[in-house]
Amino acid sequence: MKRNVLLITGLTALLPILNSCKEDGKQPIAEVVSQEIKIQPTEFSTKYDAEIDKIIAQMTPEEKIGMLHGNSMFTTTGVERLHIPELKMGDGPLGVREELERDTWTPLGLDNDFATFFPAGGGLSATWNPEMAALFGKSIGAEARARGKDILLAPAINIIRTPVGGRTFEYFSEDPFLNAMIAVPYTTGVQSQDVGVCIKHYAVNNQETNRGTVDVLLDERTLREIYLPAFKATIDAGAYSVMGAYNKLRGHYLCENEYMLQDILKGEWGFKGIVISDWAAVHSSVKSVENGLDIEMGSNLAFDDFYLANPLLDSLKAGKIDEKTIDGSVKRIMRVMFNLKRMGDTLSRKKGGLNTPEHIENAYKIASESIVLLKNTENLLPLSTDNLQSIAVIGDNAERKFASGGFGAGVKTKSEVSAMEGLKNRLPENITINYAQGYKESYDDNQTNMSYGRKLSYEADEAMIAEAVEAATKSDVAVIFAGSNRSVESEAADRETLQLPFGQEKLIAAVKNANPKTIVVIIAGGPFDLRKVEQSTSALIWSWFNGSEGGNALADVILGNINPSGKLPWTLPKELKDSPAHATNSFPGDESVTYKEGILVGYRWFDTQKIEPLYPFGYGLSYTDFQYNQVNTDMDTYDKNATIHVNVKISNSGSIDGKETVQLYVSQPGSNVDKAFQELKAFNKVAIKAGETLNVPLSFKASDLAYYDESKSAWVVEPGTYTLRIGSSSRDIRGEQTISIK
Ligand code: BGC
Repeated sequence: MKRNVLLITGLTALLPILNSCKEDGKQPIAEVVSQEIKIQPTEFSTKYDAEIDKIIAQMTPEEKIGMLHGNSMFTTTGVERLHIPELKMGDGPLGVREELERDTWTPLGLDNDFATFFPAGGGLSATWNPEMAALFGKSIGAEARARGKDILLAPAINIIRTPVGGRTFEYFSEDPFLNAMIAVPYTTGVQSQDVGVCIKHYAVNNQETNRGTVDVLLDERTLREIYLPAFKATIDAGAYSVMGAYNKLRGHYLCENEYMLQDILKGEWGFKGIVISDWAAVHSSVKSVENGLDIEMGSNLAFDDFYLANPLLDSLKAGKIDEKTIDGSVKRIMRVMFNLKRMGDTLSRKKGGLNTPEHIENAYKIASESIVLLKNTENLLPLSTDNLQSIAVIGDNAERKFASGGFGAGVKTKSEVSAMEGLKNRLPENITINYAQGYKESYDDNQTNMSYGRKLSYEADEAMIAEAVEAATKSDVAVIFAGSNRSVESEAADRETLQLPFGQEKLIAAVKNANPKTIVVIIAGGPFDLRKVEQSTSALIWSWFNGSEGGNALADVILGNINPSGKLPWTLPKELKDSPAHATNSFPGDESVTYKEGILVGYRWFDTQKIEPLYPFGYGLSYTDFQYNQVNTDMDTYDKNATIHVNVKISNSGSIDGKETVQLYVSQPGSNVDKAFQELKAFNKVAIKAGETLNVPLSFKASDLAYYDESKSAWVVEPGTYTLRIGSSSRDIRGEQTISIK
């Protein structure tokens, strides 16, 4: 399966773009950020198969089955006499997790397993920059390698169906195209380091509530158009492994779901790698293996009692499963091992590097492109330090760190710069910082031993507010660092509401009242109801659980050393009930959940139903202004297999350099089938110097306009007229062009 062509289906924008547009000859072509990376699909080879068959012929059933299940929290068993090593896995996606005891979740407390903390999913996708995703992948891949891992349990690419999802902070987007544009370079980046990704969680694992049992019911078109494209794109790019999710789809658990594993993944998509279960997500022996699961991982039972351990051996001995089926799994595992140089040419395997200055710098680069400027109506930002004598730094998130907390994968990191440390690093020494915590984490329950899903308190601490008001009153400006943290947003529990916890709205209003020059920074992984905050402030920034360098990047944005260029990777709704899963009363379900909104996930719902969000998908301001001028296409009418090239002339009319993500949405008002009002089909992030005008190329294939026709089980491009809508966000469209498809 040699792939030497640079072709990733549906991701035309990642291909080198031909300069075939009718562009204004006088203007230079934009330096297209996403063009700089040459996305090389992983060369996932089957050339070792004959050699692998010979090894399998020498194996006993016990040896084969040893490879099919965990024998510690994160490893399988090898076969020493045949030089088959164990397969070593490690959690991502925020950084390589610390080492644990063999059979518990207790950390070993080593001093050599620190790792770089990279920005969480929302931060990475908010860069809208595939180059950043490649850098992320390469860096975390190198760290995984240096830590001796074969498989990194990342990236996590489920679609964000609800803003209150416990793992929204880990996932990338509500949009399948942006999701794939980040997931693919992440994947090939990791795998360039001789470490395999494990794309998770396949599939429709879109909620934490009842995640171990819930049966997800959705129509085929929605599955294909919304929930599967990023998975398919990473498989096309050569992903080595996939993680089967906890939940069911149409009555069958994902780790034994014949339709999803055999028919789609291995059949239609031709996946040649390994399917690994999520931890303790397996419910059967024979059914799982026959339907496509290769490795069972988990922590609940003695490892020999796993479904894919002794029970599978017993079934084999009793003739309930063909040994050839088991051989198939063993072969796929060794195929991945050979590709990773875990077997075969082990000497030339990359060695990686841990906590290197380069990785810290890459974490900084990613963070500095991820921060979203939401509001700046009085131009308080960037904050000038001329004549500034004092600054009130307020809020629990000023000093808080985000590498770990809650349930699930965290990173034990040596360095994480908090917002406060970032400011101290960047502010001139003569400026006085007046700190007040302002609010504190508190809960309306006694479950102090729970790291997730606790009942949040919404009460303000009046004494803390008084302190904050005092700090703000005596300072020239106030900066509030509010939002959530890793306990508020966590794997294993969804949030109950969108409300900002711990009385933060009251704090923000009081501080703003005390000092009109108040800047609010929300640090969070997923949406919160910011209506009140938005009303009481003129300067609003969104940042993320943003990695080892999060605080430095944030300080640089506040002080204008970095011009913000992040854009929201999801819709920030006014109220929870405006969001599709909640508007249709189809979250979280009980034994089953029906995705009643169908294809209208995220902005597709808001735009089609004409519901005003607080901030729309793709939104993010800059300290400069971008003028969109002409939009041209290379032709008016295209064949169904053509590529559509679009050129947009954009000027930076402000006085500082900046980066803009030009977004292209497509509408098809005359369609014979129900469609979303618009869908993102291309984007390009470009750097434009102050005063400069650039031609920005965008492209996509006519086949990207297809919808999934359930009656034909096929993708269909309707002939007819399509409107290309080009803009700075999904709700800030600056130019349109109409094209026809024959
Ligand atoms: C999570 C996975 C993770 C695994 C191992 C599960 O609870 O869903 O994402 O990789 O644990 O830590």
